[in-house]
Amino acid sequence: MATAIADIDVRPLSDACGAEILGVDLSEPLTPQTLKAIEEAWYEHLVIIFRDQDISNDDQVRFCRYFGDLEEVRTGKYANEEMQYTMMITNVTDTGMQTALENGEMWFHSDQCYYEIPCRASTLYAMEIPAVGGNTLFANCYKAWEMLPLDLREKLQPLKAHNIYDYVGNPLKRGDNVDPDAPQYSHPVARLHPETGKHALYVNRLMTDYIEGMDPEESDDVLQQLFEHSEKSEFTYEHVWRVGDLMIWDNRCAMHARTDFDPDERRMMRRITIKGETVR
Ligand SMILES: [Fe+2]
Repeated sequence: MATAIADIDVRPLSDACGAEILGVDLSEPLTPQTLKAIEEAWYEHLVIIFRDQDISNDDQVRFCRYFGDLEEVRTGKYANEEMQYTMMITNVTDTGMQTALENGEMWFHSDQCYYEIPCRASTLYAMEIPAVGGNTLFANCYKAWEMLPLDLREKLQPLKAHNIYDYVGNPLKRGDNVDPDAPQYSHPVARLHPETGKHALYVNRLMTDYIEGMDPEESDDVLQQLFEHSEKSEFTYEHVWRVGDLMIWDNRCAMHARTDFDPDERRMMRRITIKGETVR
């Protein structure tokens, strides 16, 4: 059911997470009231989508700054100073910009969980999309945590999991022989969200390697159980993109994955991320 707060409409997209906000033109600055309403909806729904937006890079930068300081692209070179926060997530090679060349399916993950300070939020602006597939799945990690058996939550609550950015160019498999120089960091299995005060399950199939303090066999078994649990359809929303979609999601309590698509079709997303805080 749609709810009207300030001058916007918030329409939930699934029981798990995700809401569409109507009545906002992101090519214009936001009023404080509209921003407050968007923030409230964001904390409630984790993933917010604005359809039919016609926005420049500068417009996306302005929108992101409402949510905090921007994260500079940490790898490679950016095209110019205005683009220092912008990464094109695309399979297209002729953008002339900082690009993450990405094709096909990608397992669930949380952006930058392998850094000490992962980004708080990510935004994607859909510029070109394939006819079929390349959808983004989001999982509500609050719900995944809350729905675990109590004894497992009590066991996991004090533990940390080790996350690594090393899947040898294949977004469906972590490397068996992990590069010791690969970006990696341990974070709590149950992450406390600083704004909502709720815990969210903070492990993911693509990047989480082991749980500290568990013997390796048990760690593998528990992680497998957590991956299967957190990826259940009751916790996930699948977003089918349209050109002009601008999306922001909360990396502290939502993880995401991508479905397969035809590599001969173009897919181009403009990504800008917002700096995070110490993980607790
Ligand atoms: Fe991602």
